[in-house]
Amino acid sequence: MMIRMHSLALMALLVAGPALLTASPALAATAKVAAPHPGEAVYKNICQACHMANGKGGVGAGVILPLANNEKLEYPEYPISLVVQGRGAMPWFRDALTPQQIADVVAYVRINFGNKYRSKVTPEMVKEIIGDASTVREQE
Ligand code: HEC
Repeated sequence: MMIRMHSLALMALLVAGPALLTASPALAATAKVAAPHPGEAVYKNICQACHMANGKGGVGAGVILPLANNEKLEYPEYPISLVVQGRGAMPWFRDALTPQQIADVVAYVRINFGNKYRSKVTPEMVKEIIGDASTVREQE
């Protein structure tokens, strides 16, 4: 009798097993949806120090323009060129960040802090602006 009980329990496990196994890919898919935007880490590590966690900028040693609700972010070329070349008290990041990281962080600020500019930002666009910037530097 005991032996039969065991084999029933084993049967139950064998039936439940595949169901348990298929549950884990579903969990992995959920985790993927919740993954942070790739530009978020760049923003938090670099831009946030000046532009603040809420993107509103501030007044310190100089005026740090807000990124929040900023219509100048509508076309990606403008924020890309700021990050590539810097301006005034804003440093340039073409040496510190890869074109991919610049594209990611620009895409991130364009869809956060009240901005809703969802058009694509690609590393190719960044490379083109880096190319233009170095032509300008050579002419100087
Ligand atoms: C050391 C401080 C500092 C850091 C770090 C910094 N910025 Fe800036 N940023 C500024 C300042 C200051 C200005 C205003 C420049 C001016 O007055 O011309 C500015 C301006 C800008 C503008 C133009 C806003 C407008 O309305 O014209 C954009 C876009 C921008 N920053 C994006 C970024 C992004 C993205 C990062 C991170 C990769 C970043 N900044 C990192 C200081 C900083």
